Amino acid sequence: MASYDLIVIGAGPGGYVCAIRAAQLGLKVACVEGRDTLGGTCLNVGCIPSKALLHASHQLHEAEHNFAKMGLKGKSPSVDWTQMLAYKDETIEANTKGIEFLFKKNKVDWIKGWASIPAAGQVKVGDEVHEAKNIVVASGSEPSSLPGVEVDEKTIVSSTGALTLGKIPKKLVVIGAGVIGLELGSVYKRLGADVTVVEFLDVITPGMDGEIQKSFKRLLEKQGLKFIMGAAVQGATTKGGKATVTYKLRKDDSEATLEADTVLLATGRRPFTEGLGLADVGVEMTERGQIKTDGHYATSTKGIYAIGDAITGPMLAHKAEDEGMAVAEIIAGQAGHVNYGVIPGVIYTHPEVANVGQTEEELKEEGRAYKVGKFSFMGNGRAKANFAADGFVKILADKTTDRILGAHIIGPMAGDLIHEICVAMEFGAAAEDLARTCHAHPTYSEAVREAALACGDGAIHA
Ligand code: FAD
Ligand code: NAI
Repeated sequence: MASYDLIVIGAGPGGYVCAIRAAQLGLKVACVEGRDTLGGTCLNVGCIPSKALLHASHQLHEAEHNFAKMGLKGKSPSVDWTQMLAYKDETIEANTKGIEFLFKKNKVDWIKGWASIPAAGQVKVGDEVHEAKNIVVASGSEPSSLPGVEVDEKTIVSSTGALTLGKIPKKLVVIGAGVIGLELGSVYKRLGADVTVVEFLDVITPGMDGEIQKSFKRLLEKQGLKFIMGAAVQGATTKGGKATVTYKLRKDDSEATLEADTVLLATGRRPFTEGLGLADVGVEMTERGQIKTDGHYATSTKGIYAIGDAITGPMLAHKAEDEGMAVAEIIAGQAGHVNYGVIPGVIYTHPEVANVGQTEEELKEEGRAYKVGKFSFMGNGRAKANFAADGFVKILADKTTDRILGAHIIGPMAGDLIHEICVAMEFGAAAEDLARTCHAHPTYSEAVREAALACGDGAIHA
């Protein structure tokens, strides 16, 4: 039996970051992980592999659509799917091995196996029970199920199966127009599949700024993705390696079916807490199956904390990481804190979509007086040169104080551009502060400055 200041359960972005930060702060730390590799959902079957496939398929798109326009002539590359999957797997390995290295460097013990908590202060892995002054549960999430849709990870797949398909499907039906559906739907569309997305609501990416939702859907349709909106999927069946999806249109209750080689179920994720024995040690859960925590990540049981996808809030790797750092600092006696008002969200399609802070719809509902500064990438020289002029930057600022309340970007490198606004928001900046900051020319970030200028006397290149 070993004894630790802290045992972290789960080595995803929440858990591994927490373990490393706690070790840096002088605690004796172990991290338990049941998978064969570190990094959790994000590195193994989430962020990293999906971005590798998005990158590779985007390169193909560029070669097919834009190379010749720039005088780069020749045969378009053909797709070697086995090699593309190998590239994705090598990317995963490089990243998961990187975490192993960081654990060694920071003297974090990796306890291999599945953990349970027999009592506060104890973590059991296999037959061994380890003592821990503090336990952080960072057990993450798993794909949600949908009644009538049985995932076999071959014909009907979750995001995990969609990252290792045996071949590129001719016809792919995606259930759910959320982040996973649109990112992976884009990958297979670019690789030649006929992709239809079936969405329950009348909008894609629920919760996002309305103007962005509309523009995003239009651009995806231009790329050839098809959408069936307001449609509740009733079930999916498979026969001879093919699938049939049945859905009901909400407006008139009419039923219809779609045939597909592959169906991707992407209707959300739910916390994964199975086998931990949380109820037996008195850890309370929310109605939605999340671990209940207070403002300092403490559960209802003393000495047990929880973070990441397993608790409330957006299911994002960087949110989990920030909570991991904060809880490590709290356990070490410092004042860890996460500002939930400034957590960016990014969709890594092309163009990318990024947001931070409030949407226009939220500000309206709140009755807040606000102004909008918008700038189209059509007015950005760099974007025009790079065939990336679709999209815009939209900054929302308080009408009286000019303080930035939110920003929504659809366009090239949106996921990187958003951070200038995140930093500005952390400093309580006004739109004018961004507008008066010199931005290098020619860069995409000039579009952010122009949107900030548009909150005041006006953009220059509009
Ligand atoms: P996880 O990453 O889920 O890690 C939890 C770990 O705990 C797992 O490895 C699990 O094996 C382990 N575990 C669970 N129970 C036990 C136990 N009892 N004993 C031992 N080990 C245990 N987010 C982004 O921000 N950007 C993206 O681009 C992005 N892309 C995504 C793409 C896909 C396809 C998916 C599915 C998700 C994506 N996400 C993305 C979401 C992101 O992966 C999660 O928000 C993030 O991984 C959550 O981190 P976590 O540490 O809370 O949990
Ligand atoms: P999601 O919550 O983003 O989207 C699910 C969609 O499915 C919603 O639009 C919903 O209305 C729809 N839906 C639900 N039931 C339906 C039904 N019966 N028929 C048709 N449509 C239905 O969930 P998703 O895409 O599965 O992603 C899960 C989580 O993973 C997200 O919370 C996200 O934060 C995270 N993620 C983040 C990424 C990123 O940051 N780039 C990438 C991928 C995932």
